[in-house]
Amino acid sequence: MDPFIRTLPKAELHLHIEGTLEPEMLFSLAKRNGAALGYASVDELRAAYDFTDLQSFLDIYYEGAAVLRTEQDFHDLTWAYLQRAARDGVRRAEIFFDPQTHIERGVAMGTVIDGISSALDRGPEIGINGGLIMCFLRHLPESSALETLEAALPHRSRLLGVGLDSSELGHPPTEFTAVFNLARQEGLHLVAHAGEEGPPDYVWQALDVLGVERIDHGVRAIEDDALVARLAADRIPLTMCPLSNLKLKVVDNLAHHPLRRLLHSGVKVTINSDDPAYFGGYLGDNYSAITSALGLEREELVDLARHSLEAAFLPETDPVFADFEHQVGASRLID
Ligand code: ADE
Ligand code: ZN
Repeated sequence: MDPFIRTLPKAELHLHIEGTLEPEMLFSLAKRNGAALGYASVDELRAAYDFTDLQSFLDIYYEGAAVLRTEQDFHDLTWAYLQRAARDGVRRAEIFFDPQTHIERGVAMGTVIDGISSALDRGPEIGINGGLIMCFLRHLPESSALETLEAALPHRSRLLGVGLDSSELGHPPTEFTAVFNLARQEGLHLVAHAGEEGPPDYVWQALDVLGVERIDHGVRAIEDDALVARLAADRIPLTMCPLSNLKLKVVDNLAHHPLRRLLHSGVKVTINSDDPAYFGGYLGDNYSAITSALGLEREELVDLARHSLEAAFLPETDPVFADFEHQVGASRLID
């Protein structure tokens, strides 16, 4: 990877921890937990990662997540991700998790949250700090999301915010208005996946009905000029994930990705990896792939990385901002 990309301090704001489960770890956890798998080998499993759309991915993703059972499993998964991310220059990671998929298999909320959190607590050892964003699965009814929020409240201090993910089409943000209102009352930050496969209207709903602070993906916002103007005017961050969009056929070719057009329209675009174990690359790979596909210039990369820190739920006084300006200055001197 270009050392310029690697050394820029970056935040990763759209990362599903279950989507960092590499096939090798998936097999070893299945063995540790005596869980049955429908695949005979790592190679056979990897061969199944040939997705036609979001749903075809989600089916395999939830199947894979079923090997996660104990607090140690969630700790090991998160620690492996943090070590990998630190090598790409990630200094801040706001990590999504999907408790409903674990709770329905009998895993307790505390097991999931404590396992992930104990790894995050060790992040500073390797120069990375982070937080947790609990996502509601939109293919399940809002009543389930409400029960999930209730179950998470004893762990409130461990949460940065809530999000909305899973099958987008047919599950508009408006269906989750009550649970987002409750989360807001708890002082939680709010984000939602919108405009990945769903129409621009879902992005409007996420903003105007749920009141989210960031939009996860937002690719289809490009279809609506008024929406692009709104995102730009209000400096709403988009957490875009180029390799995910390619693998799930949201775009047919990275050269057609709207990231640069949105950036040049004044939108606070960021780059993220979504589910790196399934989509062929971690954060640095996403920066590299979109840079080559769109011919991004260094100044654009600096803007994208700066946006990621500004869009993080971090105080303006966090030392990472000063480190960023220092690193950008040092890189300019080398050029
Ligand atoms: N869950 C994990 N990855 C996702 C994605 N890209 N879109 C919606 N839900 C997800
Ligand atoms: Zn996602």
